[in-house]
Amino acid sequence: FKVLVLNGPNLNMLGKREPEIYGSLSLDEIINDLVLRANNLDIELTHFQSNAEFEMIDEIHKAFQVVDFIIINPAAFTHTSVALRDALLSVNIPFIEVHLSNVHARENFRQHSYLSDVAQGVICGLGPIGYGYALTSAHQYLTKNLS
Ligand code: DQA
Repeated sequence: FKVLVLNGPNLNMLGKREPEIYGSLSLDEIINDLVLRANNLDIELTHFQSNAEFEMIDEIHKAFQVVDFIIINPAAFTHTSVALRDALLSVNIPFIEVHLSNVHARENFRQHSYLSDVAQGVICGLGPIGYGYALTSAHQYLTKNLS
Protein backbone atom coordinates (compact mmCIF):
# COMPACT_ATOMS: atom_id res chain seq x y z
CA PHE A 1 0.00 0.00 0.00
CA LYS A 2 1.07 3.54 -0.67
CA VAL A 3 0.44 6.18 1.98
CA LEU A 4 1.25 9.86 1.62
CA VAL A 5 1.86 11.94 4.75
CA LEU A 6 1.31 15.66 4.22
CA ASN A 7 2.26 18.37 6.67
CA GLY A 8 1.29 21.99 6.29
CA PRO A 9 2.77 25.37 7.19
CA ASN A 10 5.09 25.90 10.15
CA LEU A 11 5.32 22.19 10.91
CA ASN A 12 8.93 22.31 9.68
CA MET A 13 9.49 24.30 12.91
CA LEU A 14 8.34 21.46 15.19
CA GLY A 15 10.61 21.00 18.18
CA LYS A 16 11.40 24.71 18.24
CA ARG A 17 7.91 26.08 17.76
CA GLU A 18 5.76 26.59 20.89
CA PRO A 19 7.06 23.34 22.45
CA GLU A 20 4.54 23.60 25.30
CA ILE A 21 1.82 23.11 22.68
CA TYR A 22 3.50 21.03 19.98
CA GLY A 23 6.11 19.09 21.94
CA SER A 24 9.87 18.73 21.57
CA LEU A 25 10.17 16.32 18.64
CA SER A 26 11.24 17.64 15.27
CA LEU A 27 9.27 16.78 12.14
CA ASP A 28 12.17 14.58 10.97
CA GLU A 29 12.03 12.59 14.21
CA ILE A 30 8.27 12.14 13.87
CA ILE A 31 8.56 11.05 10.23
CA ASN A 32 11.47 8.68 10.91
CA ASP A 33 9.39 6.91 13.54
CA LEU A 34 6.47 6.76 11.13
CA VAL A 35 8.65 5.23 8.39
CA LEU A 36 9.68 2.45 10.80
CA ARG A 37 6.04 1.77 11.59
CA ALA A 38 5.19 1.79 7.88
CA ASN A 39 7.96 -0.72 7.09
CA ASN A 40 6.54 -3.09 9.69
CA LEU A 41 3.13 -2.82 8.06
CA ASP A 42 4.41 -3.24 4.48
CA ILE A 43 3.37 0.30 3.67
CA GLU A 44 5.35 2.48 1.30
CA LEU A 45 5.34 5.86 2.99
CA THR A 46 6.16 9.15 1.35
CA HIS A 47 6.26 12.47 3.14
CA PHE A 48 5.85 16.04 1.98
CA GLN A 49 5.84 19.25 4.02
CA SER A 50 5.20 22.70 2.64
CA ASN A 51 4.47 26.18 3.84
CA ALA A 52 2.72 26.94 0.56
CA GLU A 53 -0.89 26.04 -0.10
CA PHE A 54 -0.39 25.55 -3.84
CA GLU A 55 2.46 23.09 -3.25
CA MET A 56 0.25 20.98 -1.00
CA ILE A 57 -2.49 21.07 -3.63
CA ASP A 58 -0.02 20.07 -6.37
CA GLU A 59 1.20 17.17 -4.21
CA ILE A 60 -2.37 15.97 -3.69
CA HIS A 61 -2.98 16.13 -7.45
CA LYS A 62 0.19 14.08 -8.06
CA ALA A 63 -1.20 11.45 -5.72
CA PHE A 64 -4.21 10.85 -8.00
CA GLN A 65 -4.44 7.12 -8.83
CA VAL A 66 -0.99 6.62 -7.31
CA VAL A 67 -1.51 6.89 -3.56
CA ASP A 68 -3.98 4.71 -1.63
CA PHE A 69 -4.36 6.81 1.49
CA ILE A 70 -3.40 10.25 2.80
CA ILE A 71 -2.57 11.28 6.36
CA ILE A 72 -2.65 15.05 6.56
CA ASN A 73 -1.89 17.65 9.17
CA PRO A 74 -3.03 20.73 7.27
CA ALA A 75 -1.88 23.00 10.15
CA ALA A 76 -3.30 26.52 9.81
CA PHE A 77 -4.80 25.68 6.37
CA THR A 78 -7.25 23.46 8.29
CA HIS A 79 -9.10 26.58 9.30
CA THR A 80 -8.80 28.56 6.06
CA SER A 81 -8.54 26.41 2.98
CA VAL A 82 -11.50 25.51 0.80
CA ALA A 83 -8.88 24.81 -1.90
CA LEU A 84 -7.23 22.04 0.13
CA ARG A 85 -10.63 20.49 0.77
CA ASP A 86 -11.47 20.62 -2.94
CA ALA A 87 -8.08 19.13 -3.85
CA LEU A 88 -8.64 16.17 -1.52
CA LEU A 89 -12.13 15.64 -2.91
CA SER A 90 -10.85 15.93 -6.49
CA VAL A 91 -8.50 12.95 -6.15
CA ASN A 92 -11.00 10.90 -4.16
CA ILE A 93 -8.32 9.41 -1.87
CA PRO A 94 -9.46 8.55 1.67
CA PHE A 95 -7.68 10.59 4.31
CA ILE A 96 -7.29 11.08 8.04
CA GLU A 97 -6.82 14.58 9.48
CA VAL A 98 -4.25 14.77 12.28
CA HIS A 99 -3.44 17.57 14.74
CA LEU A 100 -0.80 17.38 17.41
CA SER A 101 -2.67 19.72 19.73
CA ASN A 102 -6.26 19.50 20.89
CA VAL A 103 -7.63 22.22 18.62
CA HIS A 104 -10.95 22.10 20.49
CA ALA A 105 -9.27 23.26 23.69
CA ARG A 106 -7.73 26.28 21.97
CA GLU A 107 -8.82 29.51 20.25
CA ASN A 108 -12.24 29.74 18.65
CA PHE A 109 -10.80 30.08 15.16
CA ARG A 110 -9.29 26.60 15.50
CA GLN A 111 -12.67 24.99 16.18
CA HIS A 112 -13.65 24.86 12.55
CA SER A 113 -12.01 22.62 9.96
CA TYR A 114 -12.69 22.73 6.23
CA LEU A 115 -11.66 19.08 6.03
CA SER A 116 -13.13 17.19 8.96
CA ASP A 117 -16.55 16.44 7.49
CA VAL A 118 -15.01 14.82 4.41
CA ALA A 119 -12.20 13.04 6.31
CA GLN A 120 -12.42 9.38 7.15
CA GLY A 121 -11.46 10.34 10.69
CA VAL A 122 -9.84 13.05 12.75
CA ILE A 123 -7.19 12.61 15.45
CA CYS A 124 -6.21 15.54 17.63
CA GLY A 125 -4.60 16.30 20.95
CA LEU A 126 -2.48 13.15 21.24
CA GLY A 127 0.82 14.59 20.02
CA PRO A 128 3.07 12.76 17.51
CA ILE A 129 1.62 9.31 18.23
CA GLY A 130 -1.53 10.60 16.52
CA TYR A 131 0.25 10.06 13.19
CA GLY A 132 1.06 6.51 14.29
CA TYR A 133 -2.56 5.80 15.15
CA ALA A 134 -3.62 7.24 11.81
CA LEU A 135 -1.18 4.88 10.05
CA THR A 136 -2.53 1.86 11.95
CA SER A 137 -6.04 2.87 10.97
CA ALA A 138 -5.05 3.42 7.33
CA HIS A 139 -3.47 -0.05 7.27
CA GLN A 140 -6.61 -1.65 8.68
CA TYR A 141 -8.77 0.17 6.12
CA LEU A 142 -6.51 -0.73 3.16
CA THR A 143 -6.23 -4.38 4.19
CA LYS A 144 -9.99 -4.60 4.30
CA ASN A 145 -10.75 -2.63 1.15
CA LEU A 146 -7.80 -2.99 -1.22
CA SER A 147 -6.51 -6.56 -0.83
C1 DQA B 1 -2.10 22.07 14.25
C2 DQA B 1 -3.23 22.93 14.84
C3 DQA B 1 -3.50 24.15 13.97
O1 DQA B 1 -4.54 24.93 14.52
C4 DQA B 1 -2.25 25.01 13.87
O2 DQA B 1 -2.48 26.09 12.99
C5 DQA B 1 -1.05 24.24 13.49
C6 DQA B 1 -0.84 22.89 14.01
C7 DQA B 1 -1.70 20.91 15.19
O3 DQA B 1 -1.05 19.98 14.72
O4 DQA B 1 -2.03 20.93 16.39
O5 DQA B 1 -0.16 24.76 12.80
O6 DQA B 1 -2.54 21.51 13.03
